[in-house]
Parts: sequence; C-alpha cells; structure tokens
Amino acid sequence: MSRAGDAGVLYVDLERFEFRIDARPSRQELDQLCLAVGWSEFGADYPAVLDGYSVTTSAWTTGGRLVAWTSVVSDNVHHAFLLDVIVHPEFQGRGLGREVVVRAIEAMRRKGVTAFHVDCAPDRAGFYEKCGFKMCAGGWLDTRTHNATA
Ligand SMILES: CC(C)(COP(=O)(O)OP(=O)(O)OC[C@H]1O[C@@H](n2cnc3c(N)ncnc32)[C@H](O)[C@@H]1OP(=O)(O)O)[C@@H](O)C(=O)NCCC(=O)NCCS
Repeated sequence: MSRAGDAGVLYVDLERFEFRIDARPSRQELDQLCLAVGWSEFGADYPAVLDGYSVTTSAWTTGGRLVAWTSVVSDNVHHAFLLDVIVHPEFQGRGLGREVVVRAIEAMRRKGVTAFHVDCAPDRAGFYEKCGFKMCAGGWLDTRTHNATA
C-alpha cells in the first residue's frame, strides 16, 4: 500500500507493517516505546491500564517489533478521547502515526461514537490536523498537584 500525503509526500512503506487492534504488548515492549520518545514507563500497573482502554491500535514490523501505538478511552456511546500516540523515532515520518490514529477513529466510529477528542501541546497540533481533527482550546491538570479548593 502507498499513500500520498496532503503535501505530496509519498508513504511507500506501510505495507511492511502489521496493524493490530487491541494487541497486548508486554510491559517491556510498551516501556521501550515510551522511553524511546522520552516519556516515563507505563509502570507495574500497566495491565490495568490496558484493561481500561476502549480500543488500542498499534503497528509492528514484520519481525514482530512494536513501533507505533495509540489508545482510546470512551463512554462507548457518544464520546472518545485519544491518548498517547507514540511512534518510535526510527520510524517517524512514514505515516505510521496517522495510520494508528485513523484506525483508532474508525474502530470507535464502528461502535457508534460520534465525537472524537484530543488535546496536545501546540507543536503537535499540525499532526492532529493531518489526522482530521479541528483544533480548539482544551484543558489539562495534574491531580497530584491540583489544589481543589483554589
Ligand atoms: C507526533 C508523532 C506521533 C507523529 O508520528 P509520525 O509517524 O512521525 O507522523 P506521520 O508520519 O504519520 O505524519 C502525518 C502527517 O503529520 C505531519 N506531522 C507529523 N508530526 C508533526 C508535528 N509535530 N507538527 C506538524 N505536523 C506534523 C507529517 O508531516 C505528515 O504530514 P504530511 O501528510 O503532509 O506529510 C511522533 O512524532 C511521535 O511519536 N512523537 C513523540 C511522542 C508524541 O509527542 N506524541 C504526541 C503526543 S500529543
């Protein structure tokens, strides 16, 4: 499969990857992917985290290496939220990030979900626009440091 990007870039390598819905990578596979992009590890409770997702999509090399990942949490009726899109740096810029996102959106569309949400740092907005999102203001807080009475 090959795909022309909006800016005319041709992705020719997607057929070399296997895309999986709801794969269960090992803790080591997920942690290695997170660490490769400078994120913290999933941690020992990662099976509970995987159980909490409505869907995950991932890309694997033909040799069985996990190279791209995203997950969705949802009410499974109306709303879904995209989380943690990660593409290993060695495999970025080949369309894999968009492919796992588009497949996650399609999986939730098939369940009937109509409203798909994402938030991100400003320097990632262009990527999500290429995936079809219209960017708007969002919010985020850390419950460990948030003062509920403030
Ligand atoms: C952001 C990330 C997921 C993109 O994955 P990727 O596989 O490299 O992206 P793709 O090759 O699928 O890119 C799809 C399109 O988005 C564009 N794009 C990718 N990253 C972008 C960025 N940061 N800003 C603007 N556009 C971007 C690409 O140029 C491409 O456009 P084109 O079709 O016109 O060529 C990847 O860089 C990554 O894992 N980064 C580290 C983790 C991270 O920050 N995740 C997002 C958290 S909000």
